[in-house]
Amino acid sequence: MKKKTLIVANWKMNPGSAAEARALFNRTKQTGSRLERMETVICPPFPYLGLFARAATTRVFLGAQDVFWANSARATGEVSPEMLKDLGVSYCIVGHSERRALGETDDIVSKKLRAALAEGLIPIVCVGEKERDSGGHYFSTLKSQIAASFSGVTRAQVRDTVIAYEPLWAIGKSAREAAEPRAIREMSIFIRKVLSDLFGAEAAQFPRILYGGSAEEANTASILSEGDVSGLLVGHASLNAEGFGEMLKVANTFETLNSKL
Ligand code: PGA
Repeated sequence: MKKKTLIVANWKMNPGSAAEARALFNRTKQTGSRLERMETVICPPFPYLGLFARAATTRVFLGAQDVFWANSARATGEVSPEMLKDLGVSYCIVGHSERRALGETDDIVSKKLRAALAEGLIPIVCVGEKERDSGGHYFSTLKSQIAASFSGVTRAQVRDTVIAYEPLWAIGKSAREAAEPRAIREMSIFIRKVLSDLFGAEAAQFPRILYGGSAEEANTASILSEGDVSGLLVGHASLNAEGFGEMLKVANTFETLNSKL
């Protein structure tokens, strides 16, 4: 089964005005809409999502940067899966390291993941180690993050998830400091193995695995060709419409053989 390459724009807390958000969205959408071999997901901050409620196409999708774990609760400041769905949101990032740094635990991530799936949103679950120790402990860190974040998720549901491998030490830097394609490949294989242990080999073939952490125009081709990933989660580089457009065009030249099925 073939799935398309997926490039996700995580705007984080940018840009500072709705006018700038509109301009960035329109330019990105314009480029993404022309590219038939890949899918683009744009994740603006919550206040801007409504601006783009009807703007998604079959190639350019709307994503949220976070989601609450219930549709009905006394939860000041939170946004429910139902609200996102109603706005035409298809994807939502869950457990980004910047949210984990603000206190989000694996348990919360797991609740959010299940709530998103129940609403028919495609969760992009972020995992990644803080640092690389010479003893290789980051493998077990990642394994326990995945096991805890996916607890309660069924074999059928896991097929509709996306996992973003985002080593914290590589986030917000420059292409030169991103993880090496070879290391990304190793982690991608490892993540697939962990999924296989948890859900069985068949189901584990389905989730797309992305890389995030200083993915820029300069390293897009090498990561996609040598990293064994189905796409990228892009932070700062997604704020530059021109450079990000170039990344999308590069991604369009790769067809993702999602599985070895
Ligand atoms: P970056 O961010 O591309 O700016 O490193 C990626 C992310 O945090 O999702």
